[in-house]
Amino acid sequence: MREKTDAFSHATDALSQLGIPKILEALRATGISVRRSDMGGSHSVVTYPPLHALRKTESPAVTYGKTTSLYIHIPFCESVCTFCHYVVQHYRGNRESAARQSVVSGYMHALNIEMNSWAHELGTTGTTITSIYIGGGTPLVLETHQLVDLLDMIRLKFKVAEGADICVEASPLTITATDGLAKLQTLRQHGVTRLSFGVQSLDNEVLLRAGRGYERATAIRACMIAAQVFDNWNIDLIQSLYKGTSDEIWENLQAIDQVRPPHVTWYHGRFMDRPQGHWRNEPNMQKGFENDQQTLFGRMLIWQELAQMGYRQIDGNRFVLGERFVDPFKKTRTSVTSDLLGLGVSAYSHVGSQSHEPGGLFFRNTTKTPDYVNRLETGFNPIESGFTFDPDEHLAASYVVGLRTGRLPFQAHVYASEVAVSYYDRLIHELSKVKVLELVNSDSGTMIRLSELGRLFEDEILALFYSPRVLELLAPAK
Ligand SMILES: C[S@@+](CC[C@H](N)C(=O)[O-])C[C@H]1O[C@@H](n2cnc3c(N)ncnc32)[C@H](O)[C@@H]1O
Ligand code: SF4
Repeated sequence: MREKTDAFSHATDALSQLGIPKILEALRATGISVRRSDMGGSHSVVTYPPLHALRKTESPAVTYGKTTSLYIHIPFCESVCTFCHYVVQHYRGNRESAARQSVVSGYMHALNIEMNSWAHELGTTGTTITSIYIGGGTPLVLETHQLVDLLDMIRLKFKVAEGADICVEASPLTITATDGLAKLQTLRQHGVTRLSFGVQSLDNEVLLRAGRGYERATAIRACMIAAQVFDNWNIDLIQSLYKGTSDEIWENLQAIDQVRPPHVTWYHGRFMDRPQGHWRNEPNMQKGFENDQQTLFGRMLIWQELAQMGYRQIDGNRFVLGERFVDPFKKTRTSVTSDLLGLGVSAYSHVGSQSHEPGGLFFRNTTKTPDYVNRLETGFNPIESGFTFDPDEHLAASYVVGLRTGRLPFQAHVYASEVAVSYYDRLIHELSKVKVLELVNSDSGTMIRLSELGRLFEDEILALFYSPRVLELLAPAK
């Protein structure tokens, strides 16, 4: 790592080479600014359509193609963090009363029922599962036998590709619990290939305000334990969680240098409708916060110092120490070019990528855990909302998803309407003028990608590519 003053002046220079702060005004006029606390929905643009654009749907008819990825949602956590958007409830494993433990076994039973019905569907289409992600929530809060049963059930019911990547989510509390190491070793023996957990921050005050239930030392210890069992593991951090100062970022960078996670995800905090959001807006809390420019400075500092440590940047948030640590599930989760089957409360799925013409369906299970369990126990389908892709939506999705990874499947234009194509042509023209997009020539032709300046505003720019229909669905009711 560089010396702190050196690193800070490098980041300042890099921003001024990009024209910051002068260019900020022109960017704001195009609708681009760092709206950390007022951007709703998910914490970053992770899906197209955004989940808030889904609308109530009856059980849709869906047919999977040759392959799909599988996501399973476990909605239980040892701490319910003040900033979190996920569907979770508090649960402390075997320290809970018998009644609380039966809520969890009831949920696992419902999951089993849902799995059976999809196993039947995927059996008839001969669909193979190519990667598995058990997320939440904090799946590692489950007992070892519950986790092993879940893995066994998946293999028993579905055709899982040989060598499929299997990722499980954990947390510093569950990893450092007395049975944490043994649980991880058992998971590894049962074919889990990757571990992912949130550290969020290494600043004790931030951890306290976030309700994480541990201090810096515990997070570091969790990293050491993870490294002991897995060679592929990820930590999540959140920029601007309560403090958002450059000193806090520096502290986090120092810890990364110490523990060297093979994969780092460094989210931008998004706090609308969360207790964090209210806290941030209180007048007496304002002064410790970063403004747009400090946020951008923090981002640049993260990029530059992780590069110094040997990390390769995959997108605005993700960094790897080697190619083999790139998360294959990430591509699937956001993508409309591969299918996903999501099981469990609030899980979403998308299907239809393997048909000839662009189209397909995005659908999501109920977001209430008792409702999810009740529906399955009484023979009903847990799917609650959906969104149908027509060729114009497919074009929008190809921009939203493609721009993040620097690829743009141009063939989406072939099917979209003229109105949609010219809508995006105009948008691209406008954004190229302020230099947040750039054209590059590659073996497969000319591509559009975010420029370095554009990457600083990645989520904000991707959101500009939402289709007019999605923007209308997201608009507050009049
Ligand atoms: C399912 S959790 C990861 C595993 C585990 N539950 C934990 O917290 O350690 C997914 C990640 O989403 C991120 N996240 C949740 N809410 C967020 C928000 N409002 N803004 C930014 N990131 C958020 C956190 O970094 C979190 O680690
Ligand atoms: S951040 Fe992780 S541990 Fe905290 S509530 Fe969300 S899913 Fe649970």
